[in-house]
Amino acid sequence: MDIKPIKEKFTQIFGEGEEPAVYFAPGRVNLIGEHTDYNGGHVFPCALTIGTYGLVRRRSDDDLRLYSENFSSDGVIVSSIKDLSPAEDGSWTNYVKGVVWAFQKYGYSAGHGLDIMLYGNIPSGAGLSSSASLEVLTGTILRDVFGMKEITDTRIALLGQYAENHYIGMKCGIMDQFASAIGKANHAIFLDAYSLEYELVPIELGDISLIITNSGVTHSLVSSAYNDRRMECERGLDMLQKVLDINSLGDLNNEQFERYQVLISDEIVRKRVKHAVSENRRTVHALDALHNGDIREFGRLMNKSHLSLRDDYEVSCEEIDLLVKTAWELPGVIGSRITGGGFGGCTVSLVKKRNRNLFKNKLTACYQEAYGRKPEFYEVEIGDGAGKLE
Ligand code: GLA
Repeated sequence: MDIKPIKEKFTQIFGEGEEPAVYFAPGRVNLIGEHTDYNGGHVFPCALTIGTYGLVRRRSDDDLRLYSENFSSDGVIVSSIKDLSPAEDGSWTNYVKGVVWAFQKYGYSAGHGLDIMLYGNIPSGAGLSSSASLEVLTGTILRDVFGMKEITDTRIALLGQYAENHYIGMKCGIMDQFASAIGKANHAIFLDAYSLEYELVPIELGDISLIITNSGVTHSLVSSAYNDRRMECERGLDMLQKVLDINSLGDLNNEQFERYQVLISDEIVRKRVKHAVSENRRTVHALDALHNGDIREFGRLMNKSHLSLRDDYEVSCEEIDLLVKTAWELPGVIGSRITGGGFGGCTVSLVKKRNRNLFKNKLTACYQEAYGRKPEFYEVEIGDGAGKLE
């Protein structure tokens, strides 16, 4: 990524002065472990080499002046670190202000204003966590500029999640912010979302490509449907806790679920809990499969994850199901599933390199025939977590 033109743009927008510092925070893709994080289970994401860049210069007043190259027609949006009320139009600036607000809530106050220019290269609406990358980027900037050395990377992720939950109103789990803050090149993060203990697992794909396929489908109700799923799981946990001594659904295994599912009187809630429990077990098995070098088993677990997300958690959609089903029937496809929050977005597939052109051609042809447009493909690399570049 060539920073020079973005730096020139910064000077154009904010004027001559001290050289801006440059920061980066990545987006993520989740290999397996979907909708398990807020259920106290495991997730297995990796950070990508695409993400959000932030160029920053200190100000002597309290202004927070924000400009995004991705929303250039908005121009510079001015607010103040002394008044962090959210913009009512749901502007992108809320992701930055929300984190400054979360820092303040926990006693980490910004001492003065900032000029910040943003540039992101994550395709928007793809479900690759552009918002989490912006939150983690903001946290990384605040820690560095204001010398808050005691704030760990995990804390930055938690403060980003706090902003998303309480300022934006999306009741997300910790996965996206954690992956963006903690990621490591060529490693996936096996995270216990309850204890926040994690293991960085080397991913040596060799003759296999990690291909993300963007359906281009974005549903406006994602946030409310997501919050509904979360509430359904909480209801399920409540019913189980009447008899079982458990802290979260992540404490259950499949056999316990089979035995105690009768405690859950509502059929929909039972299906949601079934997914949360079985997906958590699949994710733990996926770690074993990787440790044993058994990528085929890893792929089978990905496929089962998709079925569970489609049938029990009901967060897939017709377009995504077509992409996944078509992929499953092709030679060289080790595994394919919906990834991220759901209701559209992307699939993630492991595909033998020698078959990747066939994969793209077939998926494009069938998608075009069904919906009259092409999906987009990204052959992504696994990158490092957030940090200062220069
Ligand atoms: C979104 C949320 C995450 C996680 C996934 C589903 O990306 O931000 O916390 O719950 O959905 O696995």
